[in-house]
Amino acid sequence: MSVSIAIRNVSRRFGASRALEAVNLDIAAGEFVAFIGPSGCGKTTLLRIVADLEVPTSGSVLIGKDPPEAARRKRILGLVSQRPAVLPWKRAVDDVSFTQQIAGRVGFPALGLLRDFGLAGHESKLPHELSGGMLQRVNFASAIAHDPDVLLMDEPFSALDEMKREELGHWLGEELSRRPKTVLFVTHHIDEAVLLADRVVVFSPAPGQIIEELVIATPRPRASTFRRDPAFLETTARIRELLFVKGGVAA
Ligand SMILES: Nc1ncnc2c1ncn2[C@@H]1O[C@H](COP(=O)(O)OP(=O)(O)OP(=O)(O)O)[C@@H](O)[C@H]1O
Ligand SMILES: [Mg+2]
Repeated sequence: MSVSIAIRNVSRRFGASRALEAVNLDIAAGEFVAFIGPSGCGKTTLLRIVADLEVPTSGSVLIGKDPPEAARRKRILGLVSQRPAVLPWKRAVDDVSFTQQIAGRVGFPALGLLRDFGLAGHESKLPHELSGGMLQRVNFASAIAHDPDVLLMDEPFSALDEMKREELGHWLGEELSRRPKTVLFVTHHIDEAVLLADRVVVFSPAPGQIIEELVIATPRPRASTFRRDPAFLETTARIRELLFVKGGVAA
């Protein structure tokens, strides 16, 4: 199952500083939308607003027919946060099962999920016994263990080497074709966004506003050979132009 998300005129200020400014976005049920934009433009803030961990200063969000608080209570959200949120006293496998206990639903058996994530042999380790990349994968596994309808992912692959990043991106693409979900995915990785998403939303520097939306029409999941496709090359070039010129990252 999957649900639509409507973001209506969302702004967020922190004291005098403006993080987000009048963001409007409709995400269809089962759509995969990637957010990309300069550091500090409010991507995490927007994701946290959808996850009910933050409130907008003005504007509103609906997940299906529910505001974020109701959606959270229904346990239909899965959040992979930018800073791994694993519990220091929980072994990897227990951290994954914990999500399932709270949700009252086993989506993916914990051991199988950890194995799929390349963590076979590490199931009983505590967070301080795992590498940063391993910890991030446990965090990811815990977030999706109850098979949520909506996946909110904040740079889920940022601590991974290029090979693991591609492997997990591939796993995610395949899994979503088996069990469709609505996905919001924050990344700084342009190729990854275009390879995985139906639509890439490009944000301006803070206060974050949507400057362009690019649709990638090629059906998902896409093979890595899609990187040579003209649609991939054109879209990545356009995003680079938007970020480097309009984003003021470099001339
Ligand atoms: N709880 C908070 N209190 C005060 N300011 C905050 C808080 N959360 C975020 N901000 C500010 O809001 C702005 C947007 O932050 P946010 O974390 O959403 O950016 P981001 O786009 O995710 O950046 P990055 O790509 O570096 O992760 C920043 O200026 C940040 O300092
Ligand atoms: Mg962030």
